[in-house]
Amino acid sequence: MNSGLVNKIELDEYLQRQSALITRALEDYLQKYPGKSQTIFQAMRYGVLPGGKRIRPILTLATGELFGAPQSSLLPFACAIEMVHAYSLIHDDLPALDDDDLRRGAATAHRVFGEGMALLAGDALLTEAFHLMSSPDAMRCVAPELVVRLIHELSHAAGVGGLVGGQALDLEAENENDVDLATVEWIHVRKTGALILASVRIGAQVAGAQPADLGRVSRYGERLGLAFQIADDILDASGQTTAGEGAESSHNERKKATYPSVVGIPQARETLKELLQLCLDELATYGAQAAPLKAIARHVVARAIHGDSKSLSEEINS
Ligand code: FPP
Ligand code: MG
Repeated sequence: MNSGLVNKIELDEYLQRQSALITRALEDYLQKYPGKSQTIFQAMRYGVLPGGKRIRPILTLATGELFGAPQSSLLPFACAIEMVHAYSLIHDDLPALDDDDLRRGAATAHRVFGEGMALLAGDALLTEAFHLMSSPDAMRCVAPELVVRLIHELSHAAGVGGLVGGQALDLEAENENDVDLATVEWIHVRKTGALILASVRIGAQVAGAQPADLGRVSRYGERLGLAFQIADDILDASGQTTAGEGAESSHNERKKATYPSVVGIPQARETLKELLQLCLDELATYGAQAAPLKAIARHVVARAIHGDSKSLSEEINS
């Protein structure tokens, strides 16, 4: 990765290039099943292939490359993470949870394939992620003991200690009036943060990063994960969500516990800036080599800050 990733055009090009690489790899992994019923594969492909920003697997590639791993070693793990993410979105959109008709500007999987098939496509993507991480292809690049450790880590992030646990409390907190900030943060750190943290940690570990480096990118990942959900909720609360972003019209209009709903949009934006500064501080030691990770953090935060990156560059030191 060249180190000159300094402006928005370069970042956009970088994100597009990495995203295309991941999409090609996902297409490849999801083509390997000739079967009698094609509907389940169509539903899986529909959930994972079009439209996503691929932020999590891009983070895996960027972190792994920072510590010297080749793309070929990182891709199976990056794609597995995107499969877990895609599963979580398919299930999150189901009538039993958010009951959404639109995702990324298109009909949600259950609106196209029916609830049963969407449920199965989510199950299949989640399972497939671990199948891919433990595949002979992945084991050729990464030592089996490390693969087991990474599976342990991703299954924790996806499970009741992460995504599922966060989503469960989110569900319980819906429509409650006195949810405090600590509870909101607890939910965010698990429902959104855990997978983002796992994305950077897995990239670093595939590259054989030293403990001090793993510590630094872990702290970056924790802060970025929280920032990601706060930014998502600010966009949603200020009506700036566009086709392709996470939150879209939920016809149940449930009242979620979010940072903007508890502290207000201005304070949520201040928290975002503080989190961005903390992310950048962790990467300072890597200089220009960490340009992609720094640019991704700025990008995540800038989309929810008025005046976009200009006001950010005046306030934030990198
Ligand atoms: C949008 O990501 C998604 C989030 C901000 C995470 C929300 C968390 C859940 C839906 C957890 C659901 C958990 C279960 C167990 C159902 P994004 O903006 O990166 O989406 P994209 O892939 O469309 O770009
Ligand atoms: Mg939702």
